[in-house]
Amino acid sequence: MSRQSKKILFDEHEIAAAVRRMASEMRENHPEGGVVFIGILKGAFVLLADLIRSFDRPCEVDFARIASYGSGTVSSGRVDVRMDVQTPIEGRSVILVDDIVDTGLTLSEYRRMLLDRGPASVEIAALIDKSARREKQVDVDYYGFRIEDGFVVGYGLDCDEQYRNLCSICVLEDTNH
Ligand code: IMP
Repeated sequence: MSRQSKKILFDEHEIAAAVRRMASEMRENHPEGGVVFIGILKGAFVLLADLIRSFDRPCEVDFARIASYGSGTVSSGRVDVRMDVQTPIEGRSVILVDDIVDTGLTLSEYRRMLLDRGPASVEIAALIDKSARREKQVDVDYYGFRIEDGFVVGYGLDCDEQYRNLCSICVLEDTNH
């Protein structure tokens, strides 16, 4: 019988240090604040909650929910915006926050849509950058960790809606019993 086991890849202390570093890089680039953070649901909600408190500058928060039609085999890059941001972003500095950038299809397409609305800038932050799997070029301006491959869960990241509440980031492995 095959079942999945979890192995800790980054514990809560490593994650907290990574989030503090990301927030401090954001403060360097936006010393006055005034940023609009856009979290991609559902995965980014844990990271965003920690990030904005560590950012510690005036900011606004909004959320978007996006489904990507592109799977590993269909790299159409088309995305379905199921819930869009309500905040006007024209002339604003935007930081798009996602849990993980994998193929890059979702963020590259949604970033393009946001740029049509005339923001001053759209930067990208992701806790995990899986750059080896990229299909669409996405410059991740702020990242917590880089990993090569593997399916990770925890700290907002799910597998079939499970594990989002883990404090650590774990890699799921199949074990045979
Ligand atoms: P992309 O368009 O392939 O970059 O898709 C990114 C989205 O796929 C993320 O926001 C996650 O929801 C999901 N995803 C990709 N890799 C993982 C993973 O290792 N664990 C959990 N979700 C993942």
